[in-house]
Amino acid sequence: MPEILVNGKHFEPYLTVAQIDEQIKRLGVEINRDYAGKRPLFIAILNGSFVFASDLFKQLTVDAEICFIKLASYKGTRSTGHVVTSIGLDESLKDRHVVIIEDIVDTGKTLHEFLPQLKDHHPASLKIAALLHKPDALVHPLEIDYIGFSVPNKFLLGFGLDYDGLGRNLKEIYKLVGEE
Ligand code: IMP
Ligand code: MG
Repeated sequence: MPEILVNGKHFEPYLTVAQIDEQIKRLGVEINRDYAGKRPLFIAILNGSFVFASDLFKQLTVDAEICFIKLASYKGTRSTGHVVTSIGLDESLKDRHVVIIEDIVDTGKTLHEFLPQLKDHHPASLKIAALLHKPDALVHPLEIDYIGFSVPNKFLLGFGLDYDGLGRNLKEIYKLVGEE
């Protein structure tokens, strides 16, 4: 795979289709094992996770439901600062086994702020599945239950991940060039 140019920046191949596929299959096996008979509800966080969510969901053999939400963050008027709210969460989470699907956990800020809101709905259990995780970038403590790849703290693109709106359609995952 050659280097590519997106929005004026160079990206080099980082993870192949086969590597991504292999890890998603592994996660599917783990989830099928852990959720047999539990009818889990997957909540995929848009936009980035739609590609991963689709591939992961196809690996499931247990009865499972999925919904998609968007998180909107804005500055609160009080000193608490940043507030995250969800758009499109219509399902009742009470007593459900919930699994959040994220494309990538970077600083952990998004989920750190959003998880307490989900817990307020009293799910039976709450776990996180992330295709990518940057352990060195994590600033908010967060336990991720299903991880596809732990990756270095570099900017990645493709397979749902964007750079300024572009690149989500790439089948492979690329890494920004020159960020060593
Ligand atoms: P966090 O709140 O810092 O964990 O940010 C997570 C979100 O930032 C992800 O869901 C992505 O939308 C975005 N993000 C973090 N790292 C990258 C990256 O390397 N490429 C593209 N988007 C990223
Ligand atoms: Mg995202």
